[in-house]
Amino acid sequence: MVNYKELGLVNTREMFKRAVAGGYAIPAFNFNTMEQMQAIVMAAVETQSPVIMQVSKGARNYANGTILRNLAKGAVEYAKELGCEAPEIVLHLDHGDTFELCKDCIDNGFSSVMIDGSSLPYEENIALTKKVVDYAHQFDVTVEAELGVLAGVEDEVVAAESHYTKPEEVVDFATRTGCDSLAISIGTSHGAHKFTPEQCTLVNGVLVPPPLAFDVLAEIEKKLPGFPIVLHGSSSVPQDEVATINKYGGKLEAAIGIPEEQLRKASKSAVCKINIDSDSRLAMTAAIRKYLAENPSHFDPRQYLKPARENMKKMYIHKIVNVLGSNGKLACAK
Ligand code: G3H
Ligand code: 13P
Ligand code: ZN
Repeated sequence: MVNYKELGLVNTREMFKRAVAGGYAIPAFNFNTMEQMQAIVMAAVETQSPVIMQVSKGARNYANGTILRNLAKGAVEYAKELGCEAPEIVLHLDHGDTFELCKDCIDNGFSSVMIDGSSLPYEENIALTKKVVDYAHQFDVTVEAELGVLAGVEDEVVAAESHYTKPEEVVDFATRTGCDSLAISIGTSHGAHKFTPEQCTLVNGVLVPPPLAFDVLAEIEKKLPGFPIVLHGSSSVPQDEVATINKYGGKLEAAIGIPEEQLRKASKSAVCKINIDSDSRLAMTAAIRKYLAENPSHFDPRQYLKPARENMKKMYIHKIVNVLGSNGKLACAK
C-alpha cells in the first residue's frame, strides 16, 4: 500500500473549492510518457498553477502503473527543483471502469480516481460509484463520477439531447453516491474529430461547431450550487498543429475541436476541471513530424523529443493562462 501523501501529491478537494469560488478551472492533462510529465510540470511551475496529471487504463497498459506512479512522485520533486515550494499535483485515474481498477490505483499512490459508470443503467452507476467512494474516502482519495454520455461524432452531437446529463438526476446521484465531483455531458466528446464539417457553420472561412449546452450546465449548477463539475473531451484541436502534421506527411482530415472561448466561458462557471489529452498528442506529433522531415539524417530520440516537449509545454501554458485561468492559483502563490 502506498498512500499518495507519502509521494507529496494532493487530492482535488481544496483546489476544486477554490476553483469554483474563483471562477476558473484546473487543468487535467493526460500523460503516458516522461516528456509529457516534464512539460506538464514545467508549465504548472512557470504559471504557478495547480495541476491534475491523469492516467487512463490505456496509459497504465502502455507505461506500467508503477512507472507512472514514480513519474508522478518525480513530478513533485521536479516541481520543487524548478523553484515551486509547495506544488499542488494530483495523480488521477481517468475513466476507471471497475471497482478493482480504482482500488488498485488508490492502493498504489493515486490521490484521485474517476469511476466511469456512465454507460451503465442509472441504479448500477450509483451502486458502483458508491462502492468506489466508500473505499476511496477511507484514504482521503477523491472520486469523480459521470452522469450522461459524451456524444461521439456518429451520434450527431447537435441532436443528441438525450445523451446530455439530465439535470433532474444530479442531486439524487450526488447525494446517494457521495462523489466529490461530477463529469457531465453538454456536447463535448473525446478525440480530434468531435464534429463533422456538416455539423459546423462556416464563419469567415472557419468551421465553427455548435455551442455547448450552457443551458443544461446552468440547470445543473442551479440544482447543485457550488458542486465541482468536470468537462471531458475538451481539446480544441488547434488548426495550426493539424496543418503542420498534414504538411509533413500526416493525414488528419476534418479534425475539429471545442472552440477555446466556449471553454473559457465554462471555466468561469462551476466547471472546475477540464480534461485535455488530444491537444497534447497533436502538439507532440506535429513537432516530431516537422523535426524529422527537416532533419532526415537524425535518429537520436532526444533530438526530436526535445522540440516535442517544448511544443507541449507551450500548449499547456496557453491553456492555463488563456483558457482555464488557473495561473497564479497555487495556495502558496498568494
Ligand atoms: O478520455 C480518454 C483519454 O483521452 C485517454 O485516452 O484511453 O487512449 O489513453 P486513452
Ligand atoms: P480530449 O480527447 O478532447 O483531449 O479529451 C480528453 C479526456 O476527456 C480525457 O478523459
Ligand atoms: Zn474523458
